Amino acid sequence: MTTPSADLEHGDLELIGRIEVASNETFLASIDGIRVVYKPSEGERPLWDFPDGDLANREVAAYLVSQALGWNIVPRTWLRDGPLGPGMVQVWHDVDAEQDAVDVVPADAIPHGGWRLVFEGIDERERPVALIHEDSAVLRRMAVFDVIVNNADRKAGHILAMPDGHRFGVDHGLTFHVEHKLRTVLWGWEGDGLEADELDGIRRVRSGIAGDLGAALAALLSSDELDAFAARCDRMLARGRFPGPSGDMPAMPWPLF
Ligand SMILES: Nc1ncnc2c1ncn2[C@@H]1O[C@H](COP(=O)(O)OP(=O)(O)OP(=O)(O)O)[C@@H](O)[C@H]1O
Ligand SMILES: [Mg+2]
Repeated sequence: MTTPSADLEHGDLELIGRIEVASNETFLASIDGIRVVYKPSEGERPLWDFPDGDLANREVAAYLVSQALGWNIVPRTWLRDGPLGPGMVQVWHDVDAEQDAVDVVPADAIPHGGWRLVFEGIDERERPVALIHEDSAVLRRMAVFDVIVNNADRKAGHILAMPDGHRFGVDHGLTFHVEHKLRTVLWGWEGDGLEADELDGIRRVRSGIAGDLGAALAALLSSDELDAFAARCDRMLARGRFPGPSGDMPAMPWPLF
């Protein structure tokens, strides 16, 4: 994606346009011809349950964990200055509009293989429908990632379907809270045992907390948040399976897409 000559850290960041669906001030921009998402910290909408002005740090922390897992879940993400002040920047990846990792289908038309059922309900026209998602290794890894970073906002629209079958996760500002906040559409593996490579990934991250990964995260998160992150890794390793919903908070993001 990136050309060797592009200076993503210091090259001029030029705004292309505002991403209208986004509820925060989120822009499509370019640096040396590379398209990026730019979210100035000044544009962050205040939230009742997350500290002001640090969603950009959480997005970068999520990227660092994705790197430590080695699964390429989060597009390259970093902090830098821009025309609207400091914020986070993330490499843009064009989605394949023909593919959906998450879908709503009529309840009597759930595909047989390759999909997991999340729940069945009634749509706005009183028809029985089902929320389903792909049953793939790449999406399972994203679900593992979401548990350890405590992602409170895994909407369907935050899963980018790449033409080659890869899936990227985006919008990780609502992560790393000390309290349980997991809100996701990826519940389809609830209770299933983790694969060996998934456990290996979590172990890699867990051991990294004492080293370079922990040092980098300490600059972005509070020490309580870092401790809670380590505890979530330990818990998932001890249980060896996908958790189910727990606590009083809704287990699904809203809207779902
Ligand atoms: N790196 C990326 N590559 C391609 N598309 C992206 C990328 N990041 C975000 N998008 C697209 O832009 C939309 C808005 O981005 P994002 O969700 O991160 O912004 P936001 O301000 O948090 O918005 P909201 O609060 O509405 O969720 C995403 O739903 C996705 O469709
Ligand atoms: Mg979003």
